[in-house]
Amino acid sequence: MPALVVIGSQWGDEGKGKIVDFLAEEAAMVVRFQGGNNAGHSVKIGEELFALHHLPSGILRPGKLAVIGNGVVIDPGVLLQEIDKLESRGISAKNLRISDRANVIMPYHRLLDGAEERMRKGARVGTTGRGIGPAYSDKASRLGVRMCDLVDEDALTEKLKFLVPLKQLMLDAYGDPTKLDQAAILKEYCEYGRRLSMYVADTGAIVEKALEAKKRVLFEGAQGSMLDIDHGTYPFVTSSQTVSGNAASGSGVSPLWLDEVFGVVKAYTTRVGAGPFPTEISDETGRKIAEKGGEFGTTTGRPRRCGWLDLVVTGYTSRLSGFTGIALTKIDVLGGFDELKVCTHYSLDGKKMRTIPADLRLLDKCEPRYRTLDGWEEIDNEGMKRILSKGFGALPEDMRRYIRFIEKEMELPVVLLGLGRRRNEMLDLRKRMW
Ligand code: GDP
Ligand code: IMO
Ligand code: MG
Repeated sequence: MPALVVIGSQWGDEGKGKIVDFLAEEAAMVVRFQGGNNAGHSVKIGEELFALHHLPSGILRPGKLAVIGNGVVIDPGVLLQEIDKLESRGISAKNLRISDRANVIMPYHRLLDGAEERMRKGARVGTTGRGIGPAYSDKASRLGVRMCDLVDEDALTEKLKFLVPLKQLMLDAYGDPTKLDQAAILKEYCEYGRRLSMYVADTGAIVEKALEAKKRVLFEGAQGSMLDIDHGTYPFVTSSQTVSGNAASGSGVSPLWLDEVFGVVKAYTTRVGAGPFPTEISDETGRKIAEKGGEFGTTTGRPRRCGWLDLVVTGYTSRLSGFTGIALTKIDVLGGFDELKVCTHYSLDGKKMRTIPADLRLLDKCEPRYRTLDGWEEIDNEGMKRILSKGFGALPEDMRRYIRFIEKEMELPVVLLGLGRRRNEMLDLRKRMW
């Protein structure tokens, strides 16, 4: 601290929302720096469950500033629905700030996302269908509508005059029957701009000022490092950079501010959508983990594919983002298995591999090699109470062994340990005696 980045180390859904919510208590602000409403971050407080897509998880902590940075793509209708829903549950969005530079997801982006997926036939990415890829494509092609345009009717009118006919050509070419109505889009989006204008600001300057004042700033990653557009399992990735380097650029501050990076590591691995997954378990054990872990997408409700923990993946992503600590989540889900497997390396044509090849044909040929560790009994309510009051030493011995094995292999300490869905079901090991 003061600047701490939280990054998903696998293919998303590692439990970043819960970790950020926990750490936000100590922070002055929480900043989202990439992705859009493809993210689904669940936070459970007592019996209340919150699913956040656009809003930084810090929004749930009164008094904290919640910032949506320039690197995010925003669907304004979805964002407003999320704000309205939270406010109806008594949570104020008055501390929200949205970057004037953030790009806007337009209705044609959602349509093109679907059309492009259909065109891919057998090679579908399995996107969330939220228009993320087309919105980032337009940003890179300099065809984007930004938040500063959304809040300025003249600027939006001018942009749409050019963009709507262009996007209609693309939809026609893809065989999508939709006819875009420029006037209706303008009216709808002007209304969004009017409602959101109170939150729009030069957020880079706001974050910078907080850092200069030595306030604690938390950067909330979305998706996972293996979904990074450059470093992930391309083309089965999302359309933004999900690694820690983008926390600075996507928030509009210098990378020299970043002090710490916590990698969120789920105690096993999951993936939603298509693409390679070396340690995937296709039998009953995989289904048991999915069921116990409630592995269904927060955004799309799709079942998540489950597999063993892959330390080749987490080692690779730790290197990419410079993890300084591990936030290990969902270890409770692994209770009740006789034994647990952890992948330590791959074997490719008889050679030991400890990194992820760029070429997916090679990754397909990589065979995971496992270390088998003893499992532990499921923790009951009494056991949980004891652990939460007594700490690390009260964990089942075999669970401690599992944790120590990860620490040794990743050469990093586990700083936070998730033991359940609720906010308090967490061990803070930052001051653990080694
Ligand atoms: P995110 O996208 O990385 O924020 O993760 P999601 O919220 O999509 O998925 C993680 C799921 O696991 C959510 O339903 C969380 O409530 C839940 N979760 C997070 N940490 C833990 C944990 O330590 N134990 C258990 N059992 N569930 C957890
Ligand atoms: P959080 O922040 C898991 C996946 C999609 C698909 C691919 C591309 O909750 O961890 P996109 O809609 O981004 O173009 O889809 O990326 N994906 C995620 N998987 N968690 C996420 O976010 C994801 N966001 C996108 O399933 O395979
Ligand atoms: Mg999620």
